Amino acid sequence: MSHRKGLSRRDFLRAGVVAGGVVMLGAPFARFISPVQARLSDVPVVDRLVVTTVVDAYYDMLAPAETRGSLAVERAHAQIHAQHGLALFLESERGNETKRVMLDFAWTPESLMHNMNVLDVDTNSIDAMVLSHGHSDHFGGLMEFVDAYREFMPAEVPLYVGGDDALCKRWIGPPENRRSFGVLDRTGLEEAGVKVVKSESGAVVAGHGFTSGVIERDTMEKVIPNTTVEIGEMDGNGCTGAQHEAHFSGEELEGNFLFDHHWGEHATAYHVKDRGLVVISSCGHAGLVNSVKQARRASGVDKVHAVMGGFHLSPADPGYVEDVIDLLVQETDPDYVMPMHCTGANFSYIMAAKYPDRLVDSYVGTRFVFGA
Ligand SMILES: [Fe+2]
Ligand SMILES: [Fe+2]
Repeated sequence: MSHRKGLSRRDFLRAGVVAGGVVMLGAPFARFISPVQARLSDVPVVDRLVVTTVVDAYYDMLAPAETRGSLAVERAHAQIHAQHGLALFLESERGNETKRVMLDFAWTPESLMHNMNVLDVDTNSIDAMVLSHGHSDHFGGLMEFVDAYREFMPAEVPLYVGGDDALCKRWIGPPENRRSFGVLDRTGLEEAGVKVVKSESGAVVAGHGFTSGVIERDTMEKVIPNTTVEIGEMDGNGCTGAQHEAHFSGEELEGNFLFDHHWGEHATAYHVKDRGLVVISSCGHAGLVNSVKQARRASGVDKVHAVMGGFHLSPADPGYVEDVIDLLVQETDPDYVMPMHCTGANFSYIMAAKYPDRLVDSYVGTRFVFGA
């Protein structure tokens, strides 16, 4: 097995490490119990789910389509834009009802809108939107997307976020070279008739899928340092810190820029008939296994059919990545795992070596058809 050189485990875990040119400010990990301790009462079962990878970092135009059991994997052959950022289009069927949900919106509108067009995504109706967390590589194309497709959305179309934290301004880099990583344009969304729904306790989305609610941190997984958070209102945007106050110490709150625990991150999931849960972690800052367990907790469904999305393990030591993979398999036993976005190559190398039957490659334009 070959691994790329990664951070040593000790370096990775200690405060103040530097990776990928980004100073990663460490902070003690705070144990946190999710508000979702009881299952959502009405998580539906869908007959079929199609996930289209609209924007992601990798594209292999020659990758063949394949079928694994009941899972169909279709590949796109088009002039696609790849970038660091994620956008997924989710189309589900329940009886004769079809629902369409947009999950995350890439980093730039240029990539998002281009790929939406060349992939010929069926935007006949868009019933709801979900933002996984408050990073601009997931909401950078949001306002242009809303502009382009607003007419296909219902009045007061919901945009589900995991809590107030998702509305906070983010910064990247060390204090002496801190750069903005964006803030959600809440004001612009309101003007466009988009209803931002803070679903700390999870929510059923478009009557078919659901969000996990705030993700409990109860495994060995750590939040890999990435951005800092600025609490406060700014020109109608920003956050109140209401979600933070429950989870940050007074000492932490005295600082203007807080270690980013991603309390507002949530997973998106579907319960597919006769298959089990399809869980999408998007960026996975709160931990991959934590995210899957939270989706189980919210739905009351144990069987995990597929886990997909960004797992944010790219900067991690290979030993830690292997520990996470083993834990994922031991604790959640997924049929299929589709790493995307910030997961990093080591994850795929290790999965291919230890659990090859579960690994499914994903590229921009790949469509995963569940329950076909
Ligand atoms: Fe991301
Ligand atoms: Fe992120």
